[in-house]
Amino acid sequence: MLKGKHIILGVTGGIAAYKSAILTRLLVKAGAEVQVIMTPAAKQFVAPLTFSTLSGKPVISEFFTANTGQWNSHVDLGLWADAMIIAPATASTIGKMANGVADNMLVTTYLSAKAPVFVAPAMDLDMMAHPSTRRNLELLKSYGNHIIEPAEGELASHLVGKGRMEEPEKIVQVLSNFFVPKDLAGKKVIITAGPTYEKIDPVRFIGNYSTGKMGYALADEAARRGASVTVVSGPVAVKPQDSDIKIIPVQTARQMLEAAQTVFADTDIAIMCAAVADYAPDHYTDSKIKREKDEIPVIHLVKNPDIAATLGREKQPGQFLVGFALETDSEQSNAREKMHRKNLDMIVLNSLRDKGAGFGTDTNKVTIFTGEGMSVTYDLKSKPQVASDIFDSIVRCLK
Ligand code: C5P
Repeated sequence: MLKGKHIILGVTGGIAAYKSAILTRLLVKAGAEVQVIMTPAAKQFVAPLTFSTLSGKPVISEFFTANTGQWNSHVDLGLWADAMIIAPATASTIGKMANGVADNMLVTTYLSAKAPVFVAPAMDLDMMAHPSTRRNLELLKSYGNHIIEPAEGELASHLVGKGRMEEPEKIVQVLSNFFVPKDLAGKKVIITAGPTYEKIDPVRFIGNYSTGKMGYALADEAARRGASVTVVSGPVAVKPQDSDIKIIPVQTARQMLEAAQTVFADTDIAIMCAAVADYAPDHYTDSKIKREKDEIPVIHLVKNPDIAATLGREKQPGQFLVGFALETDSEQSNAREKMHRKNLDMIVLNSLRDKGAGFGTDTNKVTIFTGEGMSVTYDLKSKPQVASDIFDSIVRCLK
């Protein structure tokens, strides 16, 4: 998303300036053209040479280049930029930006910038919590700037609290998410994810190896594209990247069905990514089943509801329902059969015969079948990239 983008990185005088060297490196690696502007104080922390080497462009700091008298046009820079990020942003620079105190190259460029501006504050916890800092940040927000809130942790003062500049990887992610086309804006998406646990007794359950990585990658991708996202999630360790994603935690298939049905009526796109247990014990033993000397306990199973098929029956015109098929043999015909039987508009096939596909891996290899009998087979990709391919297909179908 950042390939070819013009990014102004404003560096101000805080110890977190050393992290901005890594940020520059990551932005350049992602294909962005980076122009660093440093405040005079920033140069006390990191030499401009570090940034000019990493960005491949001379650092700008003054209104004039002293030895040539060349004017550095903040107006041209402001127009050149696709985005501006101030990281670290000290309390002083935040105050100047909020109040238009244009006494250095960075703040004048900010005032000239037409592009979206991101601010990653970094300061001591008490400075961060001070009403003037909070007010200035609120002012910046009200002008349409994006604040990348600092994280909590140990600060340069050795005090522990909120004020650590967000990590460079996270800042790059925020920037690249910003440039994702918002082709799902206004859409409501529900995703089932992870395994289900079918309880036997207080300490045992029937489950499976699903980790939820694919389902959560889909949720993150939908949110990046502007959708409002709900995940009905079995027990997993993964978390969504976007705090606006709503998680409804469940354990059993029945709970998952109930939660999915409640949300489904008001949903545009539903993706059934959960590995739902097909069977559950016919009753729950509320004290731990003891080991008997000779007798081997027998667990009777009952069929679980099929969530995808149930939603397939409840589906209204305009709703788009996607299922997954994890197969070990006759993959293509099984996937097509499932798509029709469950009344799905699309099915995503992954085969356990493909290395790197299926449960627990960070990668997946899928074939996407759509209602019109079309199918596309993709290469092995990371789960976030697979999620992007799936939503590209969905958006194409919705058109
Ligand atoms: O029939 P099978 O389990 O292979 O179908 C897989 C698809 O159906 C997946 O999309 C899965 O999330 C969904 N499914 C479901 N409820 C079940 C079983 C599967 O929603 N009880």
